[in-house]
Amino acid sequence: MAELELFELELWGGVPLERYRALRPEIDDLPWGTLDPSSISEPALIAARKAWTGAAFQEFRTGAACAATLEALIKARAPLDLIALAARFPLDEMLHVEICSRIATELGGAIELIYDPEKLVWEVPSSSPLMTAAHWVVSNFCVGEALSIPLIQGTSRASTHPLIKQALRRIVVDEADHGTFGWHFLDWASPLLSTEDKRDLGHTADRFIRSVLERWQKLRDGELIEIHQAEALGWMGSEEYLELADHSLQRNVIAPLVKRGIPITPP
Ligand SMILES: [Fe+2]
Ligand SMILES: [Fe+2]
Repeated sequence: MAELELFELELWGGVPLERYRALRPEIDDLPWGTLDPSSISEPALIAARKAWTGAAFQEFRTGAACAATLEALIKARAPLDLIALAARFPLDEMLHVEICSRIATELGGAIELIYDPEKLVWEVPSSSPLMTAAHWVVSNFCVGEALSIPLIQGTSRASTHPLIKQALRRIVVDEADHGTFGWHFLDWASPLLSTEDKRDLGHTADRFIRSVLERWQKLRDGELIEIHQAEALGWMGSEEYLELADHSLQRNVIAPLVKRGIPITPP
Protein backbone atom coordinates (compact mmCIF):
# COMPACT_ATOMS: atom_id res chain seq x y z
CA MET A 1 0.00 0.00 0.00
CA ALA A 2 1.27 3.46 -0.84
CA GLU A 3 1.88 5.94 1.89
CA LEU A 4 -1.26 7.81 2.87
CA GLU A 5 -1.27 11.50 2.11
CA LEU A 6 -3.03 14.54 3.43
CA PHE A 7 -5.44 16.11 0.93
CA GLU A 8 -3.94 19.58 0.63
CA LEU A 9 -3.93 21.82 -2.43
CA GLU A 10 -2.23 24.99 -3.61
CA LEU A 11 -2.17 27.41 -6.53
CA TRP A 12 1.29 28.09 -7.93
CA GLY A 13 0.58 31.61 -9.23
CA GLY A 14 2.28 33.65 -11.96
CA VAL A 15 1.76 32.78 -15.62
CA PRO A 16 0.15 29.33 -15.04
CA LEU A 17 -2.51 30.93 -12.83
CA GLU A 18 -3.08 33.75 -15.35
CA ARG A 19 -3.50 31.24 -18.19
CA TYR A 20 -5.82 29.07 -16.11
CA ARG A 21 -7.96 32.09 -15.17
CA ALA A 22 -8.05 33.16 -18.83
CA LEU A 23 -9.34 29.70 -19.76
CA ARG A 24 -11.93 29.60 -16.98
CA PRO A 25 -12.68 33.14 -15.76
CA GLU A 26 -16.09 32.24 -14.27
CA ILE A 27 -14.65 31.55 -10.85
CA ASP A 28 -13.95 35.26 -10.30
CA ASP A 29 -17.64 36.08 -10.85
CA LEU A 30 -18.77 34.10 -7.79
CA PRO A 31 -19.61 36.21 -4.71
CA TRP A 32 -16.54 35.27 -2.66
CA GLY A 33 -16.19 36.71 0.82
CA THR A 34 -19.93 36.71 1.53
CA LEU A 35 -20.08 33.72 3.90
CA ASP A 36 -19.99 34.68 7.54
CA PRO A 37 -19.12 31.61 9.68
CA SER A 38 -19.91 33.52 12.90
CA SER A 39 -23.61 33.60 11.90
CA ILE A 40 -23.78 29.81 11.55
CA SER A 41 -24.37 27.26 14.34
CA GLU A 42 -21.39 25.05 15.22
CA PRO A 43 -22.98 21.69 14.15
CA ALA A 44 -24.12 23.19 10.83
CA LEU A 45 -20.69 24.66 10.22
CA ILE A 46 -18.92 21.37 10.91
CA ALA A 47 -21.35 19.45 8.66
CA ALA A 48 -20.86 21.99 5.86
CA ARG A 49 -17.03 22.03 6.18
CA LYS A 50 -17.03 18.23 6.00
CA ALA A 51 -19.37 18.26 3.01
CA TRP A 52 -17.25 20.78 1.05
CA THR A 53 -13.93 19.09 1.86
CA GLY A 54 -15.47 15.80 0.73
CA ALA A 55 -16.86 17.46 -2.39
CA ALA A 56 -13.43 18.91 -3.28
CA PHE A 57 -11.89 15.45 -2.88
CA GLN A 58 -14.61 13.81 -5.00
CA GLU A 59 -14.06 16.40 -7.76
CA PHE A 60 -10.32 15.73 -7.53
CA ARG A 61 -10.86 11.97 -7.92
CA THR A 62 -13.25 12.60 -10.80
CA GLY A 63 -10.54 14.71 -12.47
CA ALA A 64 -8.15 11.75 -12.29
CA ALA A 65 -10.88 9.42 -13.58
CA CYS A 66 -11.67 11.78 -16.49
CA ALA A 67 -7.96 11.90 -17.40
CA ALA A 68 -7.69 8.09 -17.30
CA THR A 69 -10.83 7.80 -19.44
CA LEU A 70 -9.42 10.32 -21.91
CA GLU A 71 -6.22 8.31 -22.34
CA ALA A 72 -8.26 5.14 -22.90
CA LEU A 73 -10.44 6.90 -25.51
CA ILE A 74 -7.33 8.00 -27.41
CA LYS A 75 -5.84 4.49 -27.27
CA ALA A 76 -9.17 3.12 -28.57
CA ARG A 77 -9.14 5.66 -31.43
CA ALA A 78 -12.63 6.79 -30.52
CA PRO A 79 -14.08 9.46 -32.87
CA LEU A 80 -12.12 12.72 -32.58
CA ASP A 81 -15.14 14.78 -31.61
CA LEU A 82 -15.86 12.45 -28.70
CA ILE A 83 -12.21 12.60 -27.59
CA ALA A 84 -12.09 16.39 -27.96
CA LEU A 85 -15.23 16.80 -25.86
CA ALA A 86 -13.77 14.53 -23.16
CA ALA A 87 -10.49 16.50 -23.24
CA ARG A 88 -12.28 19.44 -21.59
CA PHE A 89 -13.49 17.42 -18.62
CA PRO A 90 -10.28 17.24 -16.50
CA LEU A 91 -10.01 21.04 -16.65
CA ASP A 92 -13.67 21.40 -15.62
CA GLU A 93 -13.01 19.13 -12.66
CA MET A 94 -9.98 21.15 -11.53
CA LEU A 95 -12.19 24.24 -11.54
CA HIS A 96 -14.75 22.37 -9.43
CA VAL A 97 -12.00 21.30 -7.02
CA GLU A 98 -10.98 24.94 -6.61
CA ILE A 99 -14.57 26.12 -6.11
CA CYS A 100 -15.29 23.47 -3.45
CA SER A 101 -12.01 24.04 -1.59
CA ARG A 102 -12.48 27.80 -1.56
CA ILE A 103 -15.95 27.37 -0.07
CA ALA A 104 -14.50 25.08 2.64
CA THR A 105 -11.92 27.79 3.34
CA GLU A 106 -14.64 30.46 3.66
CA LEU A 107 -16.48 28.23 6.13
CA GLY A 108 -13.42 28.16 8.37
CA GLY A 109 -11.14 25.68 6.62
CA ALA A 110 -11.13 22.17 5.24
CA ILE A 111 -11.31 19.22 7.61
CA GLU A 112 -8.37 16.79 7.67
CA LEU A 113 -8.73 14.23 4.91
CA ILE A 114 -6.19 11.42 4.48
CA TYR A 115 -6.21 9.32 1.33
CA ASP A 116 -4.33 6.64 -0.57
CA PRO A 117 -2.97 8.16 -3.82
CA GLU A 118 -2.73 4.67 -5.34
CA LYS A 119 -6.49 4.27 -4.95
CA LEU A 120 -7.49 7.64 -6.29
CA VAL A 121 -9.15 6.13 -9.35
CA TRP A 122 -11.38 3.15 -9.75
CA GLU A 123 -9.81 0.09 -11.39
CA VAL A 124 -11.32 -1.35 -14.54
CA PRO A 125 -10.66 -4.74 -16.13
CA SER A 126 -7.94 -4.45 -18.79
CA SER A 127 -9.12 -5.66 -22.12
CA SER A 128 -8.99 -4.59 -25.79
CA PRO A 129 -8.50 -0.82 -26.23
CA LEU A 130 -12.18 -0.38 -27.09
CA MET A 131 -13.42 -2.43 -24.13
CA THR A 132 -10.99 -0.78 -21.72
CA ALA A 133 -12.32 2.62 -22.81
CA ALA A 134 -15.89 1.31 -22.51
CA HIS A 135 -15.26 0.09 -18.93
CA TRP A 136 -13.90 3.53 -17.99
CA VAL A 137 -16.77 5.36 -19.64
CA VAL A 138 -19.46 3.12 -18.14
CA SER A 139 -18.12 3.46 -14.60
CA ASN A 140 -17.12 7.13 -14.62
CA PHE A 141 -19.69 8.63 -16.94
CA CYS A 142 -22.74 6.34 -17.30
CA VAL A 143 -22.80 5.79 -13.52
CA GLY A 144 -20.67 8.42 -11.75
CA GLU A 145 -21.28 11.58 -13.77
CA ALA A 146 -24.85 10.75 -14.86
CA LEU A 147 -25.71 10.41 -11.20
CA SER A 148 -23.95 13.50 -9.95
CA ILE A 149 -25.96 16.00 -12.04
CA PRO A 150 -29.41 15.50 -10.43
CA LEU A 151 -27.74 15.40 -7.01
CA ILE A 152 -25.86 18.66 -7.50
CA GLN A 153 -29.05 20.21 -8.91
CA GLY A 154 -30.96 19.05 -5.83
CA THR A 155 -28.31 20.45 -3.50
CA SER A 156 -28.30 23.72 -5.43
CA ARG A 157 -32.10 23.99 -5.02
CA ALA A 158 -31.87 23.31 -1.27
CA SER A 159 -29.06 25.84 -0.76
CA THR A 160 -30.08 29.36 0.10
CA HIS A 161 -26.76 31.17 0.46
CA PRO A 162 -25.93 33.06 -2.79
CA LEU A 163 -22.28 31.88 -2.92
CA ILE A 164 -23.25 28.24 -2.43
CA LYS A 165 -26.15 28.44 -4.87
CA GLN A 166 -24.13 30.14 -7.60
CA ALA A 167 -21.12 27.87 -7.11
CA LEU A 168 -23.30 24.78 -7.47
CA ARG A 169 -25.04 26.24 -10.51
CA ARG A 170 -21.63 26.87 -12.10
CA ILE A 171 -20.70 23.24 -11.51
CA VAL A 172 -24.06 21.99 -12.90
CA VAL A 173 -23.51 23.92 -16.16
CA ASP A 174 -20.22 22.05 -16.77
CA GLU A 175 -21.60 18.74 -15.60
CA ALA A 176 -24.36 18.78 -18.24
CA ASP A 177 -21.86 17.60 -20.88
CA HIS A 178 -20.23 15.16 -18.46
CA GLY A 179 -23.55 13.54 -17.64
CA THR A 180 -24.51 12.87 -21.26
CA PHE A 181 -21.05 11.88 -22.52
CA GLY A 182 -21.40 8.22 -21.53
CA TRP A 183 -24.57 7.85 -23.61
CA HIS A 184 -22.97 9.41 -26.69
CA PHE A 185 -20.02 7.05 -26.32
CA LEU A 186 -22.25 3.99 -25.97
CA ASP A 187 -24.40 5.02 -28.93
CA TRP A 188 -21.23 5.14 -31.03
CA ALA A 189 -19.64 1.98 -29.59
CA SER A 190 -22.76 -0.19 -29.38
CA PRO A 191 -22.55 -1.72 -32.89
CA LEU A 192 -18.91 -2.65 -32.16
CA LEU A 193 -19.77 -4.46 -28.91
CA SER A 194 -20.91 -8.09 -28.62
CA THR A 195 -23.59 -9.33 -26.22
CA GLU A 196 -20.79 -10.72 -24.06
CA ASP A 197 -18.99 -7.34 -24.06
CA LYS A 198 -22.21 -5.68 -22.90
CA ARG A 199 -22.61 -8.26 -20.15
CA ASP A 200 -19.04 -7.48 -18.96
CA LEU A 201 -19.85 -3.76 -18.99
CA GLY A 202 -22.95 -4.56 -16.94
CA HIS A 203 -20.70 -6.19 -14.30
CA THR A 204 -18.55 -3.05 -14.18
CA ALA A 205 -21.65 -0.88 -13.79
CA ASP A 206 -22.93 -3.22 -11.03
CA ARG A 207 -19.65 -2.91 -9.11
CA PHE A 208 -19.60 0.87 -9.43
CA ILE A 209 -23.28 1.16 -8.42
CA ARG A 210 -22.57 -1.01 -5.35
CA SER A 211 -19.71 1.28 -4.30
CA VAL A 212 -22.02 4.31 -4.64
CA LEU A 213 -24.71 2.55 -2.57
CA GLU A 214 -22.13 1.77 0.13
CA ARG A 215 -21.28 5.48 0.32
CA TRP A 216 -24.95 6.39 0.70
CA GLN A 217 -25.40 3.72 3.36
CA LYS A 218 -22.59 5.38 5.34
CA LEU A 219 -24.48 8.69 5.10
CA ARG A 220 -27.66 6.94 6.28
CA ASP A 221 -25.87 5.25 9.18
CA GLY A 222 -24.01 8.40 10.13
CA GLU A 223 -25.23 11.85 10.82
CA LEU A 224 -28.71 11.57 9.40
CA ILE A 225 -30.03 14.42 11.41
CA GLU A 226 -31.83 17.38 10.01
CA ILE A 227 -29.51 20.34 10.17
CA HIS A 228 -31.48 22.85 8.14
CA GLN A 229 -28.85 25.53 8.28
CA ALA A 230 -26.26 23.04 7.02
CA GLU A 231 -28.50 22.03 4.15
CA ALA A 232 -28.66 25.67 3.12
CA LEU A 233 -24.85 25.54 2.94
CA GLY A 234 -24.74 22.58 0.61
CA TRP A 235 -24.60 19.74 3.13
CA MET A 236 -25.66 16.50 1.48
CA GLY A 237 -26.89 14.11 4.14
CA SER A 238 -30.61 14.70 4.53
CA GLU A 239 -33.23 11.99 4.01
CA GLU A 240 -34.61 14.05 1.13
CA TYR A 241 -31.18 14.04 -0.57
CA LEU A 242 -30.88 10.27 -0.18
CA GLU A 243 -34.38 9.75 -1.65
CA LEU A 244 -33.40 11.89 -4.63
CA ALA A 245 -30.22 9.80 -4.94
CA ASP A 246 -32.18 6.51 -5.07
CA HIS A 247 -34.60 7.91 -7.61
CA SER A 248 -31.79 9.34 -9.78
CA LEU A 249 -29.94 6.00 -9.77
CA GLN A 250 -33.01 4.31 -11.30
CA ARG A 251 -33.94 7.03 -13.76
CA ASN A 252 -30.57 8.48 -14.84
CA VAL A 253 -28.32 5.42 -14.65
CA ILE A 254 -30.03 2.02 -14.62
CA ALA A 255 -32.83 2.76 -17.14
CA PRO A 256 -30.56 4.29 -19.85
CA LEU A 257 -27.98 1.48 -19.43
CA VAL A 258 -30.63 -1.21 -19.79
CA LYS A 259 -32.09 0.61 -22.80
CA ARG A 260 -28.66 0.28 -24.46
CA GLY A 261 -28.49 -3.45 -23.85
CA ILE A 262 -26.22 -3.28 -20.78
CA PRO A 263 -27.76 -5.67 -18.26
CA ILE A 264 -27.83 -4.47 -14.64
CA THR A 265 -28.30 -6.70 -11.62
CA PRO A 266 -30.92 -5.00 -9.42
CA PRO A 267 -29.01 -3.49 -6.49
FE1 LIG B 1 -17.18 18.05 -11.31
FE1 LIG C 1 -17.90 15.98 -13.82
